[in-house]
Amino acid sequence: MKKVIIGVVGCGDISKIYLENLMNVFSITEVKGCCDLIQERVAEKQGKYGFEVAYKSLDEMLQDDDIEIVVVLTQPLYHNSICLQVLEAGKHVYVEKPLSPNRKEGMIIKKLAESKGLLVCGAPDTFLGASIQTCRSMIEDGWIGNPIGVAANMKSHGTEAHHPDPEFYYQVGGGPMFDMGPYYLTTMINLLGPVASVAGSTAISFSERTITNHKRNKFGKKIKVEVPTHIAGIMNFESGAVGTIVTSFDIWRHNTPFIEIYGTEGSLSIPDPNYFSGPQKLQVQRLIEGWYDVPLMYEYAENSRGLGIADMAVAIRTGRKPRANIDLLYHVVDIMEGFHDAAAQGKVLPIMSTCEKPAQMEKILLPGEVK
Ligand SMILES: NC(=O)c1ccc[n+]([C@@H]2O[C@H](COP(=O)([O-])OP(=O)(O)OC[C@H]3O[C@@H](n4cnc5c(N)ncnc54)[C@H](O)[C@@H]3O)[C@@H](O)[C@H]2O)c1
Repeated sequence: MKKVIIGVVGCGDISKIYLENLMNVFSITEVKGCCDLIQERVAEKQGKYGFEVAYKSLDEMLQDDDIEIVVVLTQPLYHNSICLQVLEAGKHVYVEKPLSPNRKEGMIIKKLAESKGLLVCGAPDTFLGASIQTCRSMIEDGWIGNPIGVAANMKSHGTEAHHPDPEFYYQVGGGPMFDMGPYYLTTMINLLGPVASVAGSTAISFSERTITNHKRNKFGKKIKVEVPTHIAGIMNFESGAVGTIVTSFDIWRHNTPFIEIYGTEGSLSIPDPNYFSGPQKLQVQRLIEGWYDVPLMYEYAENSRGLGIADMAVAIRTGRKPRANIDLLYHVVDIMEGFHDAAAQGKVLPIMSTCEKPAQMEKILLPGEVK
């Protein structure tokens, strides 16, 4: 299959693993060039990964007829305007999470893409990896019976101790729900289907954060917190399953699992959905006492960020639906904003959007192949 040519916007922290995988792992993708507001970052990445062009600007990249997909790896605040600019230029776009800081802006992107016949796909793509695909097979093959409930926990004390530029995590489009919620919600939707209604509670436990790493001479810098940093949500899935999720940047220590799914016959413990593999554990009430490690049944157990782009590239060449598609991305944004709205209004709110469970990955693939 002819390679799909890619341009990357944003050469910051996360760009390294994308460039590594898009250039060296997936057989369908090729990165022609990158751009960043900070030109030295492009030069540094070009020196390391050897892509052909260091574009001086996004405009210059968009004028390059070779580029088919633009991958947006900027801070969340800029995702929307860049996605719109890329679509207006007639190119497909793959955007890091979240798609948008709210439904309104997400819907504008969705409508523009539809009107132009272009694809918008996006992160996370960890749900296409070996662990979560294995968990999906376990559920669909009936190992835990009918899923009735799910509990999800993303608890940490934020990003200022490790991220070189952590400010955006505390601005609109950031916060633990918009930053980390997409991993958990996408995983749960992939395993249980779409969400019909939500309730929520939110808090800002610390109005100010202090940077405590030395990566960019920002040690001691204060960050004003503009968004809730502790969010508890309840989800009623269309299937009838009931779920809870806590995402927090306010918790120092905890001992709760990432995601557990409870079925009529047993329980499944899902590993960290921020990664492509980890221990997936099963407990079947009538067969197994204690947790049993489930062997991986799918490819892409290593850090395969960009797998969703390879999947999108195959979709472009074959005409099939991409897995990390706009309906899924928008449904996740709808749910995340729904928790915040429900908390503000003190009500259970319907989720008006829906999506299909993405098709499962193929079990047998050649190295670097996606089908
Ligand atoms: N860092 C991580 O561990 C991580 C993990 C998963 C996902 N993400 C997501 O990836 C995205 C980027 O995160 P990051 O940590 O790499 O951020 P970062 O701040 O390290 O890098 C972002 C880069 O985008 C550039 N940029 C901003 N606006 C631009 C524009 N208009 N044109 C060109 N370049 C522009 C900035 O100059 C910067 O170099 C975010 O959406 C984040 O949620 C990050």
